[in-house]
Amino acid sequence: MIKRFTLSAIAALTLSTGGALAAETGGHAIHDVDFSFEGPFGKFDQNQLQRGLQIFTEVCSACHGLRYVPIRTLADEGGPHLPADQVRAYAAQNFEVFDKELDDTRPATPGDHFPGSSLENAPDLSLMAKARAAFHGPYGTGVNQFVRGIGGPEYIVAILTGYTGEEKEQAGTTFYENTAFPGGWIAMAPPLFGEDVDFADGHSNELHHEAEDIASFLMWAAEPKMMARKHAGFTGVMLLIILASLLYLTNKRLWSPHKGKKTA
Ligand code: HEC
Repeated sequence: MIKRFTLSAIAALTLSTGGALAAETGGHAIHDVDFSFEGPFGKFDQNQLQRGLQIFTEVCSACHGLRYVPIRTLADEGGPHLPADQVRAYAAQNFEVFDKELDDTRPATPGDHFPGSSLENAPDLSLMAKARAAFHGPYGTGVNQFVRGIGGPEYIVAILTGYTGEEKEQAGTTFYENTAFPGGWIAMAPPLFGEDVDFADGHSNELHHEAEDIASFLMWAAEPKMMARKHAGFTGVMLLIILASLLYLTNKRLWSPHKGKKTA
């Protein structure tokens, strides 16, 4: 009885977090996005990851790095899954690395990592999708994350689509008003406006589509083995269910001669 009450109270609180969220994020709630990789059987959408990679390469990498991500993982199944020769060409064409042995720069190879940030105050994006949360409510307890997930990718979408167009100058730096950024003013100029890239697969390049594609790609970068993890979790639960049923049947069988018999 008590348990049921607690559960329904949590559910009610979780559903009514709109207001609490709005207060925490400067007056603008971060919307849940129905990403393909969410839920117990979610999978990364390979085409979406490839589009996200293109946006990262053509736009974000001008300032941001991905220094914990090995370039070769672009060929991994469950990730962007590019053919090996394309990964080699991609590395060589886009990035230069400093080679200690050569004591010189050379074109990157799949064995290298993506470079770090080239702009000093732009954070590395390797783990950004797991370092930020979108849903903090109700009242800062974070309980609604059980239902909606932590919301790192949603936060990134909200940052990229949350510019109001207002700017201000402070101590020589320009800040841009952003409804998702804590504090409301971010030092990153709007990086995407819509139609910033052209996709080979002909997918829409409207702002919110681009934002979802890059957020998805950054989620993969931060947790490339997510699908393997979910798969292992599912197998584990199935094994436990089988084991529990066998134990139940064994228990029943062992005790059946003694149950229901009068002792005297
Ligand atoms: C012109 C340089 C530049 C480009 C291009 C750029 N950014 Fe940024 N970005 C910055 C800077 C600078 C910051 C730090 C802002 C701050 O802390 O106020 C930042 C911060 C961020 C943050 C962190 C926000 C936080 O919560 O701390 C995210 C996420 C982000 N950028 C995503 C992107 C994505 C995705 C792209 C490509 C679509 C991109 N950026 C393109 C300069 C850039």
